[in-house]
Amino acid sequence: MDRAFFDQIRAYVGFGAAESAELAAMAQALERVLDPLVEDFYDTIQRDPDARQVLADEAQLARLKRSLREWARSMCSGPHDQRWFELRTRIGHRHVEVGLPQRFVPLALARIRPLLMRAALESAAGDTELQLRRLAALHKVLDLELTIMLESYQRMHHARVRQAERLGTLGQLAATVSHELKNPLGVINTSVHLLREQLKAPAAGSAEPAATEGEVRLHLDRIARGSRQAARLASQLLDFARGKRPELRSCALAAVLDEALSMVEERGGVAVSARCDPAEATAQLDSAQVAQVVANLVRNALEAIGETGVGSRVEVRVRRDPLGVVLTVSDDGPGIAPEHIERIFDPLYTTRSTGTGLGLAIVRDVVEAHGGRISVSSTPGAGAVFTVLLPQGA
Ligand code: HEM
Repeated sequence: MDRAFFDQIRAYVGFGAAESAELAAMAQALERVLDPLVEDFYDTIQRDPDARQVLADEAQLARLKRSLREWARSMCSGPHDQRWFELRTRIGHRHVEVGLPQRFVPLALARIRPLLMRAALESAAGDTELQLRRLAALHKVLDLELTIMLESYQRMHHARVRQAERLGTLGQLAATVSHELKNPLGVINTSVHLLREQLKAPAAGSAEPAATEGEVRLHLDRIARGSRQAARLASQLLDFARGKRPELRSCALAAVLDEALSMVEERGGVAVSARCDPAEATAQLDSAQVAQVVANLVRNALEAIGETGVGSRVEVRVRRDPLGVVLTVSDDGPGIAPEHIERIFDPLYTTRSTGTGLGLAIVRDVVEAHGGRISVSSTPGAGAVFTVLLPQGA
């Protein structure tokens, strides 16, 4: 999670320097409630069979008690900066690692809250207005804590589920890949064999002519196409298996489109057009990954058209708007039947006679890794539109 997320949630609850100051002022009162707070936290965990199971041994319990004290102190003392936020993000991740069911975080916080409220009230005894301000600051920071812990928990949990899905599909992948590799490798083998035959000097007196340049070219083209197919399969597999984190850099969207289209082989009879609006728009993206997304979507459209003979154009549009980058790839091909549309992003799901079913799964992975969304709409017989939104910080 990034700085923009932190700024956004802080702005939402209205947490700033004034709230930080109120919390810092309750440091002494906080010390007085820390012992009962940690004891109650621990006792409650012990009483619940599911929560108890999470704790591995005494040493971990001792660490957890220490961590909780430090957490409460730094919640009040701040500074509520990027480092503070990153430490909170780590708590959510740690909870996923130890297998803590998510519900225990809000539940535990509900027990901690009254003791912290007591500290806030005591730190401003006799001054009702001050007490109110301090309580408000406390509730805001606790709700920020909760939001960060839950959000980071959820994101990591989601990433883990995806990773497990990935591993689960590995077995099926092996079968698909060997099947898919057989085709291009078979073509390469046959062409090499025929070339060898044709290059042999014709036997003396034979009526067979030597291979013409045209024939040689034909086989070389087939070899080149076959090896490109095999290489693409290998790199798709790698992309999918790695699920690489994007490296965000400022880049020109028009250049990303150019790179994407250079990765796609042309198909006769189908016009591919691309437009960037405004032409000089830039965004924070992993340009190689986003180019891959565009290339896969265009290739997907070209294959649908090529296989059915329906359709003649593919349009790529990329637009910068206040929310981020909106990318659409539309075609006038055969469209997608409603029964397939739900599943087209699943790994290995394909309706094509050839194809790995990885292209769109990679698209979804990359879009989600950028914090974005993808949707598809289609009218069977009249084409399909894929829309990708890649959010950008303000
Ligand atoms: C308000 C709720 C909670 C807060 C603020 C909190 C805070 C923390 C913190 C600060 C850490 C250390 C993170 C790190 O290593 O960077 C941690 C780890 C951990 N938490 Fe929580 N926690 C909460 C709820 C719970 C609950 C209900 C359990 C139930 C068993 C739990 C179990 C653990 C465990 C097992 C660890 C790992 C300890 C270790 O191995 O060092 N937490 N938590």
